[in-house]
Amino acid sequence: MCGIVGYIGHQKAVPVLLEGLQRLEYRGYDSAGVAILQDGKIRVEKTVGKLEALKETLEGKDLDTYVGIGHTRWATHGAPSTANAHPHMDCTGKFVIVHNGIIENYLALREELQHLGHEFKSETDTEILAHLIEQYDDGDLESTVKKALKRVDGSFALGVLDREEPNRLIAVRKDSPLVIGIGQGENFIASDIPAILKYTKKAYILNDYEMAIVTKDHVEIKTLDGEQIENKEVFEVKWDAAAAEKGGYEHFMLKEIHEQPKAIKDTLSGRLDLDNGQVVLDEVKLPVEQIKNIKKVFITACGTAYHAGLMGKYMIEDLVRVPVEVDIASEFRYRNPIIDNETLIIVVSQSGETADTLAAMREAKQKGARVVAVTNVVGSSVAREADDVIYTWAGPEIAVASTKAYTTQLIAMYLLSLYFAQVRETLSKQEIKGYLEALNQLPEQAEAALKQDEDILQLVKAYAKSENAFFLGRSLDAAVAMEGALKLKEISYIHAEAYAAGELKHGTLALITEGIPVITLATQQDVYDKTISNIKEVTARGADVIAVAFDTDTQIQKSVNHVLTIPLTEKYFTPVLSVIPLQMLAYYMAIERGCDVDKPRNLAKSVTVE
Ligand code: G6P
Repeated sequence: MCGIVGYIGHQKAVPVLLEGLQRLEYRGYDSAGVAILQDGKIRVEKTVGKLEALKETLEGKDLDTYVGIGHTRWATHGAPSTANAHPHMDCTGKFVIVHNGIIENYLALREELQHLGHEFKSETDTEILAHLIEQYDDGDLESTVKKALKRVDGSFALGVLDREEPNRLIAVRKDSPLVIGIGQGENFIASDIPAILKYTKKAYILNDYEMAIVTKDHVEIKTLDGEQIENKEVFEVKWDAAAAEKGGYEHFMLKEIHEQPKAIKDTLSGRLDLDNGQVVLDEVKLPVEQIKNIKKVFITACGTAYHAGLMGKYMIEDLVRVPVEVDIASEFRYRNPIIDNETLIIVVSQSGETADTLAAMREAKQKGARVVAVTNVVGSSVAREADDVIYTWAGPEIAVASTKAYTTQLIAMYLLSLYFAQVRETLSKQEIKGYLEALNQLPEQAEAALKQDEDILQLVKAYAKSENAFFLGRSLDAAVAMEGALKLKEISYIHAEAYAAGELKHGTLALITEGIPVITLATQQDVYDKTISNIKEVTARGADVIAVAFDTDTQIQKSVNHVLTIPLTEKYFTPVLSVIPLQMLAYYMAIERGCDVDKPRNLAKSVTVE
């Protein structure tokens, strides 16, 4: 997620901008830059890599100025490069902007602007905004920006400078965070509170469609329709800098768990055409004829991404009627899989850098397969080498234990499966529409699934001393059970095993003893009765069963000791919701046991060795 800062006031701007950017490093970035107004001109300095590289570029230069904007870029549209780094300028050098968010209609706007003679220097969606502002320039920055933004679909937090109006800075937001720091004879803009904390603890939190016109002595806030907002509440920051980076959460993992509704919304953004009942996956360039000819799909990944891949098998086989195998990447390449040019490989990787996944992908490509990658990191090795890329747009994931990356990978698998069903006409328009409507509900439903801290804390009190736990489920629930067990193991160090519920009796039932927690997912209606039978098998042997079930299920509590609930959704989409209480259970369990949640022992976020 990009980071924005802006400054106007009595101090030298560049050190303030750099301090702010440093405080936003936790958001993840691959390049950085600043723009200042100096002697009636805009000056932009930017580099790929860490802030140290930017500081080196700035060293020894005359940067005396009191107004500027800065940015750390986490690549979305266009690979990490100096040209793609922000700030971006228009053709004339009159305007300069920094942006966080995604402009969804950027391709159409880019074509239109090119047609009008605008020349682009980067591959970013952001640069469109600089040229749009130039196009609508009416001599007043405030009204110009408003006019330009009327043309834009998508999300934005924006900082804009005009060389002809050196005494004001414009900030505006929709669906991406932005705060205005209130100082004495100086004011600030920033993506997040930590960037301004060294200078002030007072801020305005901008709401969607609000614009701030910031001078050194004054902040005026208006809606994009021009309505003045009087008496905007001043937010008094009570956290210290470290807590602020985590948005007030104690750990990145908890923050990322809570970011899931927004992350899911971002993954779906621009990809659901609800009116026409169509999935829009313009980034998949695989020709329709080739999609129709796919005879076999392999999905390969590691860890949590592998668990997301498992869902693809259920959905593609059932809805697209193509055989699918899901392989752990470190095994896939060593078993000489049968691959030809009618084989599709789907590679799933949050980081896009996992060595085993990359090696599996290269092996498959060499054998002639077409590769579609599902990844979160633009410009990663997987993204560069795959034929097609579906980005998950989850924003940087910092905690080692993956949460929002998993749920957004699931969304990407759903979209891809439905897209194939659409192209191969194995589902009717009406059926696809039904699925899309259900997908559209998920962000709100995920929000509801998050609201069970109290129930989970009670479970934690009861079971934190357990050294073993089992996770059961049938069908898609079995795959979610695997992810739930992995989360518990990796951060709380409780030994946990996941089983397809029907398989337990073939050996593992011997391990079920008095009081052992057995977390059972019971969301799949076609196997519900059989799951209840499996619950009886373990309760009869003394286990305590914690069920995850729909909030409409009035029967389940008769068979189990505790119930965690999720809202009702389509069969395929339940994993996105049912994993949420399992992530929270693992998190609170780890806290209770005094574990280092964000950095579990022996584990790495991205494993770049085989
Ligand atoms: C590591 C991480 C896991 C992750 C796996 C795959 O083991 O600790 O959380 O699921 O790598 O990572 P990737 O970036 O390829 O999704």
